Amino acid sequence: MKNKKTLGWLLLFAAGILAILPFLPAPSTQASDWTYFLGRFHILLLHFPIGLILLLVGLELWAFIKQQTRTKVFQILWIAAIISSLCTIGAGFLLYRTGDYQGSLVRQHLWGGVGLGLLMLVTYGWRFTVLPQAQNQDAATKSSTWQSRIYPASLLTILGLVIYTSHLGGSLTHGPGFLTAYTPSLSTSAAQQKPTEELLLFEDILLPVFESRCQSCHNKHKTKGDFLMTSFHTIQAGGKSGKAALVPGNAVQSELYHRITLPLSDEERMPPQQKKGLSEDEVALLKWWIEEGAREDMQWGAGPPGIEGQAIAKRFIPQFQQQQKKRVQDEKKLAKLAKQLDQLGTKLGLVIAPDPSRKGLFSVAQTIPPATVTDETLLSLQPYYDLFSKVSLPGSEITDDGLFYISQMTDLQELYLPKTCLKGPGLAHLSELPQLRTINLSYSLLADEGALHLLDLPQVEKVYLYGTHISEEVWKAIEKFQPDLSLLAEEGPYF
Ligand code: HEC
Repeated sequence: MKNKKTLGWLLLFAAGILAILPFLPAPSTQASDWTYFLGRFHILLLHFPIGLILLLVGLELWAFIKQQTRTKVFQILWIAAIISSLCTIGAGFLLYRTGDYQGSLVRQHLWGGVGLGLLMLVTYGWRFTVLPQAQNQDAATKSSTWQSRIYPASLLTILGLVIYTSHLGGSLTHGPGFLTAYTPSLSTSAAQQKPTEELLLFEDILLPVFESRCQSCHNKHKTKGDFLMTSFHTIQAGGKSGKAALVPGNAVQSELYHRITLPLSDEERMPPQQKKGLSEDEVALLKWWIEEGAREDMQWGAGPPGIEGQAIAKRFIPQFQQQQKKRVQDEKKLAKLAKQLDQLGTKLGLVIAPDPSRKGLFSVAQTIPPATVTDETLLSLQPYYDLFSKVSLPGSEITDDGLFYISQMTDLQELYLPKTCLKGPGLAHLSELPQLRTINLSYSLLADEGALHLLDLPQVEKVYLYGTHISEEVWKAIEKFQPDLSLLAEEGPYF
């Protein structure tokens, strides 16, 4: 009895210390040699708890199914797993204190480790106090009580946490996505490997064409004309006009075909604004596919017959294969770039991720909780300036000088800087950003003089100015001189 009590206190003490770790102040920049020395043992130690926990969970689940509970063996295993876990977490925490690792990933890893440690302590306590009684009761009533069912569930959660935490740890040392970087890609290369006759007219040939020429405006995030062009079914469903996008057997009646064959100058032509449309061969193929019934399963083997068809095939197939190859290469390049930027972001305390609505571009945002972001942080991004479409740094220490760096992000479209110390003169730099449409400056220090610089930005459509100190006269004056610009007295989005 006395032993049990000491054990209980010990568990509680360990749990208390663990629970405090994530709340200790941010790592200091100058860690002692001891911190470095002990902290680096984390990388070595971590293999012990992972191995022990996997063994333990495996054996325990096996024993649970077989209804055997050889307490002594398990108790030794449990204690070894707990002690090695606590040592690993301790060393990991010291490594974290060195400041070598920063950003959201390392915080999540810390939380994962602490959560795992806590759950192990609780489960251990449960395993050797409540569970034996519950099992006696089970044996008496010949059915399992909820107390004994909790145990395997908790074991599985421990297993899940081990996988989650070590995955994050792996991402920290080897870069995010380390585990999944070589996941075989089936979609793009599959079309390449198929014999020509088996290529699916829609999925392998037409859809990739739509992807490069149409999906920039007709995607999930931006669905112009309510017309989504990402799959056969969404295309079939048509758009806002209610006209049938595909009329099997009749290309001219099909809105999809009609829109791409209009003269360049026609307002309704797709893609609009004289953007590069489909090639002649692509149009011919689309036409043929619709005339033959616009079926999803139609293969190239059934392709355009006769001399004309053969001529198309001759021109089109090499071009198609070239495109496919380029697509695969482009995607690989982009994936590599995404990885690089993600790593850089983690180092700087930022989240840099692909912008889902703008292929090939990225968004820059704060981590949660936010790290300190200054003008210097922006400077570290310089080699990648032309890749950012969105920057959102609410509450950061960006100043008007920082806007000079931002003005070099030539593809920037949205800029969110609420709750910053911006006063406004730096806004003039942004006149060099042709794509910039939305700015959020709510709760900044913007006052009359600074706000007048908004007049330098004719390309911008929306500015959020809630909680700033702009007088009514200046507000009205800006609205008068720049009628296309909406000044909004709303807090506005932060991302
Ligand atoms: C630059 C943006 C942009 C691109 C690129 C673009 N579209 Fe559109 N599309 C629009 C807009 C805006 C509308 C809604 C206004 C309209 O109906 O003209 C629209 C509407 C349509 C509609 C009418 C939907 C309906 O029934 O209301 C069709 C069909 C269409 N697009 C096909 C295409 C095809 C095919 C391509 C690629 C070759 C394409 N679009 C590329 C902007 C674009």
